[in-house]
Amino acid sequence: MTILDFMPPTTVSSNYVNGQWVPSASGVTFENRNPANTDELIGVFQQSNAADVDAAITAAAKAYEEWRLVPAPVRAEMLFRAAQIIAARKEDFARDMTREMGKVLNETRGDVQEAIDMTFYMAGEGRRMFGQTVPSELRNKFAMSVRQPLGVCSIITPWNFPMAIPSWKIVPALVCGNTVVFKPSSNTPLSAHNFVKVLIEAGIPKGVVNMITGDADVGTAMTTDPRVSVVSFTGSTTVGRTVNQAAASTFKKVHLEMGGKNVVMIMDDANLELAVDGCLWGGFGTSGQRCTAASRVVVHEKVYRKFVDAFIGRAKTLVVGDGLDPKVDMGPSNSDAQLQTVMRYVQIGRDEGAALALGGRRLESGSYAKGFFHEPTIFADVDPKMRIAREEIFGPVVSVIPCRSLEEAVAIGNGVEYGLSASIYTQDINRAFQAMRDLYTGIFYVNAPTIGAEVHLPFGGTKSTGNGHREAGVAALEVFSEWKSIYIDFSGKLQRAQIDVEQV
Ligand code: UN1
Repeated sequence: MTILDFMPPTTVSSNYVNGQWVPSASGVTFENRNPANTDELIGVFQQSNAADVDAAITAAAKAYEEWRLVPAPVRAEMLFRAAQIIAARKEDFARDMTREMGKVLNETRGDVQEAIDMTFYMAGEGRRMFGQTVPSELRNKFAMSVRQPLGVCSIITPWNFPMAIPSWKIVPALVCGNTVVFKPSSNTPLSAHNFVKVLIEAGIPKGVVNMITGDADVGTAMTTDPRVSVVSFTGSTTVGRTVNQAAASTFKKVHLEMGGKNVVMIMDDANLELAVDGCLWGGFGTSGQRCTAASRVVVHEKVYRKFVDAFIGRAKTLVVGDGLDPKVDMGPSNSDAQLQTVMRYVQIGRDEGAALALGGRRLESGSYAKGFFHEPTIFADVDPKMRIAREEIFGPVVSVIPCRSLEEAVAIGNGVEYGLSASIYTQDINRAFQAMRDLYTGIFYVNAPTIGAEVHLPFGGTKSTGNGHREAGVAALEVFSEWKSIYIDFSGKLQRAQIDVEQV
């Protein structure tokens, strides 16, 4: 007998379709387990299929007819209420999230906070959503533009920010007047359930938000159904490409937020202590499982040795373990598959001849035995051409690369297929501005690491990180609404634009 034999049976969580909690048509379920201790079952969820998606899209399409007519400030009031409810439950939601995702409690609190921030921010948009009013070129004619919703939005989210990222997509979709079919990652469905339950409690009407758990079958149906107008996806570049192709033939608006290989550049005049703090947080925070993680550090040769020694010294002291333990700095990888990827890349780095300066091993003994733990790992003297310096690892592995100048650092920084976030540590304002201008990324930091975006500025990246859209800030409204230009002629006669030109 183990302690588990005495635990109460776990109830099975349902999908949420048309205002009802319903099982999947498939009759199949899957288990969600704690990545720090796989003996702990978090819950059992629906392994849904295309029939479930069909029902959800039908409900969302029907609900859209009414929801689009609810005044935006009224929609927003429900969202304000939702933000208040999340704030009241922040601690419980953070604990649930640490148990299913793995990151430490301080970070899951941050994740929930980001959902609160986004929900308040977007609720505020319910009284703004500005259009333009312009003078007409003709007399007695009025000209303006308004934002209009698009219809049903398919929202597909990853496991690394299990409440923040769903909020980034669902809340702006709702305030603009769209309805939603939401598929969270199968690794973090509990946080998704927590979020959707809040929306229900806040008064979002039936059919407006629908949630289906499951994998590729669900995703395919959500990205190909002709009744869906928008697909918003965050995840890997490989899956993002599939989503884009699946949605292309029905001309959906597709918003993609994908991989990163973000760089911190440290100049010879940098405050090195500050830079070390930033690289620890940027590289090993969330066990490196952020799209914005600082997985490359490019350091000026004049301070290279000093930085590397200090960075290793500090990284050595990071405590790895269960994220619920307040002494722990870094939790596990989120899944066995993710851990295997980390281990594969560590081997690739060794084979490529990078100097393994710290870590490099899975942690398996004692309290680590039931989880997906890995040591904080630093490769030094990395050549920018190596795969560990170019490909996204999504784990606690940082590559340190020496450089001779700012220009070389910028070239290395830009020399990857991704363009999400970059940062520079320098005391020289000229260098800071030059780097700010020349790094082709969607986000840039000065004297701060590559992570830490706030909800009221656009979030997203260039090149293979995205497809030109941004989420968060007012930019999110561009994804979830489209423009309608309106002309009102009150002259009582036919006036022909471009023809009836007044001579001056
Ligand atoms: C992500 O990495 O997928 O800027 C999102 C940050 C967080 C969001 C990260 N606010 O690191």
